Amino acid sequence: MTFHHLMLFLHVLAVTAWVGGMAFAWGCLRPAVGVLAPAQRLALWVAVLGRFFLLVWIAIALLLLSGSAMLMEVGFARAPAAWHAMTFTGLVMIAVFLSIWFGPWRSLRQAVHVEDWARGAIAMNRIRQRVAFNLALGVVTIAAATLGLAF
Ligand code: HEM
Repeated sequence: MTFHHLMLFLHVLAVTAWVGGMAFAWGCLRPAVGVLAPAQRLALWVAVLGRFFLLVWIAIALLLLSGSAMLMEVGFARAPAAWHAMTFTGLVMIAVFLSIWFGPWRSLRQAVHVEDWARGAIAMNRIRQRVAFNLALGVVTIAAATLGLAF
């Protein structure tokens, strides 16, 4: 096992947790909790997303550390175009996550705390749209990484 293999292992582990978690939240949990009343549904989302977002922070730290370690082995200038594409879309994904964390995620927690379900539903809707966007971008990034695609 080389250093590169270890970095690749941590990188793919982080990708699995982040993109897999979004696929589960968006594709499985979201349609299933539609039957619950807003009070229960939004409180459940706060409990679920609070745990998931902690995992995403860890995944981001691992992705950045392992990704830049692998990039530095060859140097940014000599890295294949697909790696540049992955770095770009990966950084956009991180920016979108930050926009959720500092925006609607904060509003959702406050709304649930004061039992303002209408405001909570608006915040949750924004989170859902941005997670769908990041899920799609995650798939594009995996395609760039594995199929060698660059735009
Ligand atoms: C944000 C900064 C990122 C950097 C600097 C980065 C950099 C790298 C590098 C240098 C490799 C090694 C490629 C190889 O050995 O062939 C790699 C592999 C990979 N990356 Fe990233 N990456 C980043 C983010 C992401 C994200 C967000 C995803 C997916 C959502 C992703 C998915 C992958 C996958 C699936 C591989 C394995 C490719 C393979 O071995 O064929 N990366 N990354």
